Amino acid sequence: MADFQAELQPRLSPDEAPARGGRFHVETYGCQMNSYDSQAISGLLQRAGYARSDDPDVADIVLLNTCSVRDHAEQKILSRIGEIRSIRRRRGLAQPLIGVCGCMAERLGPELRKGQHRVDLVVGVDRYETLPGLVGELLAGEPALEAVVTGHTDEARLVAPPELYPVNNSHLVTIHKGCDYKCTYCIVPMTRGPQKEKAPDLILEEIRGIVAAGGREVTLLGQNVTAYAWPGLDFAGLLQKVAEIPGLERIRFLTGHPRDMHRPLMDVIGRLDSVCPWLHVPIQSGSDRILRRMKRLYDRAEYLDMVDYARRAIPGVTFSSDFIVGFPGETEEDFQATLEVLREVRYDQIFSFKYSERPGVPAARLADDVPLDVKKSRLARLMELQDEVWAGAAAACTGQVWHAVVEGPARRPEGAWQLRTGNNRKVIVTGGELVPGQGVAVRITGHRNTTFFGSCEEC
Ligand code: 5AD
Ligand code: SF4
Repeated sequence: MADFQAELQPRLSPDEAPARGGRFHVETYGCQMNSYDSQAISGLLQRAGYARSDDPDVADIVLLNTCSVRDHAEQKILSRIGEIRSIRRRRGLAQPLIGVCGCMAERLGPELRKGQHRVDLVVGVDRYETLPGLVGELLAGEPALEAVVTGHTDEARLVAPPELYPVNNSHLVTIHKGCDYKCTYCIVPMTRGPQKEKAPDLILEEIRGIVAAGGREVTLLGQNVTAYAWPGLDFAGLLQKVAEIPGLERIRFLTGHPRDMHRPLMDVIGRLDSVCPWLHVPIQSGSDRILRRMKRLYDRAEYLDMVDYARRAIPGVTFSSDFIVGFPGETEEDFQATLEVLREVRYDQIFSFKYSERPGVPAARLADDVPLDVKKSRLARLMELQDEVWAGAAAACTGQVWHAVVEGPARRPEGAWQLRTGNNRKVIVTGGELVPGQGVAVRITGHRNTTFFGSCEEC
């Protein structure tokens, strides 16, 4: 591994890279891990003297931070590459250059440098330290020797510098990378590699930096945060250490694996005031037969038991989940079991997807035998039931008084504020002189979809 580490050194470290100038634009697709990585990429490039631009039309290089989780996501990104190419044609220049980062870079590697897409640079999820050097060479017109840099490293130490990336409502902090589970449908273990923890000291230092920059809330991120395992420190231990940081008021985390949501962990979440009572715990399917085929490592009864315990241990807890419909072999009966879970758990929010076969994953050996129209109709039925269950739960909230924190001005209506409760409910409040970060009591007056409306009790 020592050789690999040496090879990892960027040819120009970020600090040594010449401030050659040039503007970069980063577009992010997919999960929050990518949002964090994009902030880190921007930080590396800004430190090397490049300017961040929000406009691809004026950028010298556009980096697409990509997602491979479903075919649809990849197709959208491929057509985006075509659009950026057309900016070049319109400008009559060789720029913007196009770089692909993230999961597609890892999955497709050199293929992206060929054929119709022919991007200029491909850098995988663990190799972003090489970006300043490579971008410098490309912008200077020197063809980068290695325009494709992929492969996994042993360390997780990518940091998004809060002083360069303004602190927002909930600053993202990746605590580990990769995934050691082998869910049969999932491309992530291939694209992001094995699970590697960021050192606790690095995580704590990063969060202290966020607080120093004015942040009051963090979201700890990872493919499976609940499986965090540093020698002598598990996720519950890490939460306790993070909760001790002075000035940090709220801690959220994404994503928890139901199997790792142990009772002692839930006790800790319930006990620590600053840990928000919201669990995103993807079940994927309510059918034990399908869960086994997915290799999810829990069954429906264990999942429901976890939800039940969480309701007792964590005051005010809310749940959200991901679902896949139309997994190979899913029957109407399996699907009914999924609908049943929705009724039992009463999620605040769900994210549901049609199964998409990914090349090389274990489930690709199974026939993708649920017809597309059946997948579509199951997806619609799932969402319809969720709307129905949620409408009942949400209506019952009218008249309640919640504590919520001001995130900023709401998009609509004019003059309104957007607030969020600890259990992740969005509330729009009209009128009142509020300040971002301020905590207020709001009386709920109604809701539309997952957004609540309320009036400020103290304004
Ligand atoms: N097809 C459909 N959905 C998928 N997901 C992951 N892999 C696939 C796939 N092959 C969904 C899961 C996961 C979410 C991030 O994406 O629900 O939790
Ligand atoms: Fe994919 Fe399963 Fe790992 Fe989640 S836990 S990233 S679904 S393999």
